[in-house]
Amino acid sequence: MRKKIGIIGAGHVGESTAMYLAERNIADIILIDIIEDMPMGKALDLTEAGPIRGYDCKVIGSNDFGDLKGCDIVVQTAGLPRKPGMSREDLITKNADIIKNCAEQVKKYAPDSMILMVANPLDVMTYHAYKITGFPSNRVFGQAGTLDSTRFRTFVAMELGVSMNDVQALVMGGHGDTMVPLPRYTTVSGIPITELLPEDKIKVISDRTRSGGGEIVKLLKTGSAYYAPAAAVASMVDAVLSDRKRVMPLSAYLSGQYGINDLYIGVPAVLGANGVEKILELNLTGEEMELLRKSAGIYKDQLKVLGY
Ligand code: LAC
Repeated sequence: MRKKIGIIGAGHVGESTAMYLAERNIADIILIDIIEDMPMGKALDLTEAGPIRGYDCKVIGSNDFGDLKGCDIVVQTAGLPRKPGMSREDLITKNADIIKNCAEQVKKYAPDSMILMVANPLDVMTYHAYKITGFPSNRVFGQAGTLDSTRFRTFVAMELGVSMNDVQALVMGGHGDTMVPLPRYTTVSGIPITELLPEDKIKVISDRTRSGGGEIVKLLKTGSAYYAPAAAVASMVDAVLSDRKRVMPLSAYLSGQYGINDLYIGVPAVLGANGVEKILELNLTGEEMELLRKSAGIYKDQLKVLGY
């Protein structure tokens, strides 16, 4: 039997995720939304692209959470996006209710699945879903660092005029203004960017990465980014379903690593068939560690808004 991916929310992120995953042809996809008929329309449209694009997985739309039954992994995209001028954190109480409802449905219909959170504020919503489902923490994680790192990679490549494919980057911390781009761990074919770019240029690129989501919100005016977020999600789902043991930055539950306890935040981890299989603990400098802990402090405070 084919593996099955659930995607909750058929907005821009959900539909783009479905498209990228269909093109990988690794699993059947169920696209769920509460708007009547809309996910069925998008799923049928995607299915009809299959003969040309060369995939034959099933893409099914549904208004019924019961169709999550049998899912190996559920991507949670439902939630309100940001409007210009809003921070991801402004969404906290609005999206908490949506996440609670969806997480309860996942627990009911796909109790053995994993949850990949995409809704914002990302690290807080991932924690919320972890608490609501009671799933073990290796099976609940959030997409963030992979998106933030792909932005960092893109900006480095643009600055140097080299292929984006040759740039590897690491961004840790929360998916917000306090995220921590790490130039020391960012390389072009193995060459640290600290040897290729002056400090002031690296700072400009790091700052642009931190506000990369906001840059898109400002340009789109009616919503937030979706191609790069969806591409990041698809690569993470593939890592799990194909048991790739990919090393990716993601929002993971920390229980003492980096001196941080009982919190979801972005760290590098090994992602495979068992979800978050290992959290990698790097030898951060004092300054890097301070930035990470500062980011963690913000999310601890935000969890208090939800009564944690
Ligand atoms: C971003 C939003 C989706 O970073 O969080 O683009």
